[in-house]
Amino acid sequence: MALVLVTGPGGTGKSVLTLNLAAYLAKRYYNVLMVDGDLFLPDLADYMNLGNVKYTLHKLLTDSSLEAKAAVYKNKKQKSAFCRGIKN
Ligand SMILES: Nc1ncnc2c1ncn2[C@@H]1O[C@H](COP(=O)(O)OP(=O)(O)O)[C@@H](O)[C@H]1O
Ligand SMILES: [Mg+2]
Repeated sequence: MALVLVTGPGGTGKSVLTLNLAAYLAKRYYNVLMVDGDLFLPDLADYMNLGNVKYTLHKLLTDSSLEAKAAVYKNKKQKSAFCRGIKN
């Protein structure tokens, strides 16, 4: 199952809804991968207190030597993982 959350303006709750949906699904034994594709303000990593993660979706798309798993940050407590969005 793939869910894509899209809105035009920022500040409309995409990140908060994504995190809540991911937590809900992970608690119900789904394996969850969140991909932050926000072109302007990829802030899921901040919401998750991950700080400045090394590899982003942008790096993954522009560096063919990079394996996808390098940009995936696992949460071992819940079956969820995360890939940070594009940030200049
Ligand atoms: N359902 C909601 N009720 C009240 N405040 C919310 C709700 N969803 C998001 N917010 C608040 O709105 C702001 C923007 O939410 P965010 O998820 O970061 O938006 P986006 O990712 O679309 O830019 C945040 O301060 C967040 O806490
Ligand atoms: Mg956001």
